[in-house]
Amino acid sequence: MSTASTPICVIGAGTMGRGIAQIALAAGHTVSLIDPQPAQLLAARSDVAARLTKRHSEIAAALDDRLHTFTSIDQAPARPGTVVVEAVLESLEVKASVFGEAVKHFGDTCILATNTSSLSVTEIAARTPLPHRVVGMHFFNPVPVMKLVEVISGIQTDPAIADTIHDLAVAWGKRAARAKNAPGFIVNRVARGFYGEPLRLLQEQTADPATLDAALRGNGFRMGPFELMDLIGNDVNAAVTRSVWSSFNFDPRFEPSRIQDELVAAGRFGRKSGHGFYPYADDAEAPAPAVVEPGNCRETHRWGGAHSSPRSRSGPAWTLSRPTTRPSFSTTSPCW
Ligand SMILES: NC(=O)c1ccc[n+]([C@@H]2O[C@H](COP(=O)([O-])OP(=O)(O)OC[C@H]3O[C@@H](n4cnc5c(N)ncnc54)[C@H](O)[C@@H]3O)[C@@H](O)[C@H]2O)c1
Repeated sequence: MSTASTPICVIGAGTMGRGIAQIALAAGHTVSLIDPQPAQLLAARSDVAARLTKRHSEIAAALDDRLHTFTSIDQAPARPGTVVVEAVLESLEVKASVFGEAVKHFGDTCILATNTSSLSVTEIAARTPLPHRVVGMHFFNPVPVMKLVEVISGIQTDPAIADTIHDLAVAWGKRAARAKNAPGFIVNRVARGFYGEPLRLLQEQTADPATLDAALRGNGFRMGPFELMDLIGNDVNAAVTRSVWSSFNFDPRFEPSRIQDELVAAGRFGRKSGHGFYPYADDAEAPAPAVVEPGNCRETHRWGGAHSSPRSRSGPAWTLSRPTTRPSFSTTSPCW
């Protein structure tokens, strides 16, 4: 079953959907990509084409035959055995509704793989007409770079379906980790502390994001937590936190951050919206960390710099540091 002849339908053409479509195309599949927003489909096609051109130029050249985009599921070819991978909003209702439509259209031989970061695979399955064919297929961001895929079985998941998705992930060049359904699965549960504690440090005005990011990078992490939240999308990251928090009966360990909620309310989702903890416009400059590299005798910017006290101006403290360069993004950074 896990061969390049398996038809793939990716639902949602955002950050994750376009990455999933790209690796399926690179592995030789024909892909239907669905999104109600034509602009997202256009942007996805151009992103995928640009990225494939670098390493799979023959696939990029044949993209019109291999990648088909549609604004609704019922426009896609209804081939039996289609593997549907959804990467729509982190909402139980939206995911269940998308799977309901997929079953109506593709029939009972389709597989329903959800890329949810934190919602219960068991609960999504329970709201779907074919619960035994629902499985978690959790990719990490950026999909073409990150090696891990978590394959998550809900209590109704047919083990043969989980096997198929495991094999498919491996055929797509990924390392597949199998786990049972649990809030946040493996990585996103452990990672809550990586976001939550720095957000608490920020709330306590211990240091600004640039300094916290630099401190963690200096200690071996490929990316700092604020750079990573901006890459993931603060809207997505906040939704995952809220979902894990509620699944753990509002355990304070997982409590969402008011600072992040404010950014989301303002539309500051991160890289994808052009502004998050940091600005991303082409001419934007990001705050400098209060960290000095060895041998660099320039002035240390302590907590907003020698020239500005965090209490002397209004607004969030992290806007106070002196701007220098934009945060860098390594394509080999661990992100989720
Ligand atoms: N961003 C990450 O780092 C990351 C990592 C792992 C998993 N995820 C999960 O992947 C999913 C998608 O996240 P994303 O970051 O790609 O989000 P995104 O906001 O970039 O993209 C979501 C896309 O879904 C589309 N959409 C919304 N409703 C739809 C519908 N009914 N049918 C089809 N398309 C619809 C939107 O138009 C949008 O293009 C979420 O469940 C998220 O938790 C995200």
